Amino acid sequence: MSDYIIQAEHLTKRFTLDAGFFAKQDRFVYAVNDVSFEIERGKTYGLVGESGCGKTTTARMLVRMYKADGGDILYKPKNSEELNVLKMNRRQLKTYREKIKYVFQDPSRSLNPRLTVFNILTASYRYSSTWPGKKIAYNEAAHIMEEVGLDPLDLEKRPSEFSGGQRQRISIARSLIMKPEVMFCDEVVSALDVSVQSQILNLLQDIREKRAISFLFIAHDLRVSCYFCDTIGVMYRGLIVEEAPAAELYKTAFHPYTKLLFEGSENSISNSNGEIKTTLESLHGCPFAHRCPHACTKCISQIPEWKNLGNGHKVRCILE
Ligand SMILES: Nc1ncnc2c1ncn2[C@@H]1O[C@H](COP(=O)(O)OP(=O)(O)O)[C@@H](O)[C@H]1O
Ligand code: SF4
Ligand SMILES: [Mg+2]
Repeated sequence: MSDYIIQAEHLTKRFTLDAGFFAKQDRFVYAVNDVSFEIERGKTYGLVGESGCGKTTTARMLVRMYKADGGDILYKPKNSEELNVLKMNRRQLKTYREKIKYVFQDPSRSLNPRLTVFNILTASYRYSSTWPGKKIAYNEAAHIMEEVGLDPLDLEKRPSEFSGGQRQRISIARSLIMKPEVMFCDEVVSALDVSVQSQILNLLQDIREKRAISFLFIAHDLRVSCYFCDTIGVMYRGLIVEEAPAAELYKTAFHPYTKLLFEGSENSISNSNGEIKTTLESLHGCPFAHRCPHACTKCISQIPEWKNLGNGHKVRCILE
């Protein structure tokens, strides 16, 4: 058995379509349909797919920001028994959330503009059981500022005094201060210029090597994800349709949607990240059948079973 730190099993989430004038309580958005994967200890799992395919919903279920409608989430702390995240009591959940940190896409919205950087970094730290007092925390914060490539003197500044890339560094610093075991990076470079993107990816790479943290890396760009991740799950309409070690996927992508995503990142089509892929019906067949040039009647009668291609590579597609 692999040494996982978080394991998602058959996660499912639907939202009521109840916003707006034509609200209908009995209609649903099936955001996540049946998602299973593992984040191995010290490794990076990439969840990749176009906008609306259910990546953020999946991550939010893992930290219980959203309640899962079905499935299970297991967390295995180091040298300890595994815990069922969905059955944690308040105290266990608080500890879990100190160890699993979420970095959001848009730093300008996730950083409180009225607070100094020091107060942003320590907002939840000061209510944790590990709070060492302000003086020590200030020293820790100063070190972490250096680690993320910022000046410790910046701790007294406010978010408006920084560029987009620097604000993302502050978000990363905030997630590091409580010494997490896992970082969830949700489209952390999507809102940034290309040159700044690579600087932030290099920073995450350094952090990963130095701290041996596990990552859930969420992105819509498959090429960037192949560069950064150990294993990748390609998501389409709430379902993982292909999973493989990143290098293997890069060389031998099998699923027609994965191939399309690779072509998209080459031509910068999928970089627009604009198309919504969610289904308003519970899935019966292959989620990609409406766009697939190879679709046949078998494809729409049932969700394709996982097919094992060896080397940790598996795919949900009936093609031989
Ligand atoms: N809080 C919510 N209420 C209603 N629908 C939601 C909510 N969050 C996400 N959705 C819908 O679920 C689908 C998946 O969204 P999301 O997980 O954000 O996708 P991604 O992160 O891959 O872009 C989308 O159709 C989105 O509109
Ligand atoms: S199962 Fe059928 S529709 Fe789906 S990707 Fe494979 S060939 Fe295309
Ligand atoms: Mg998202």
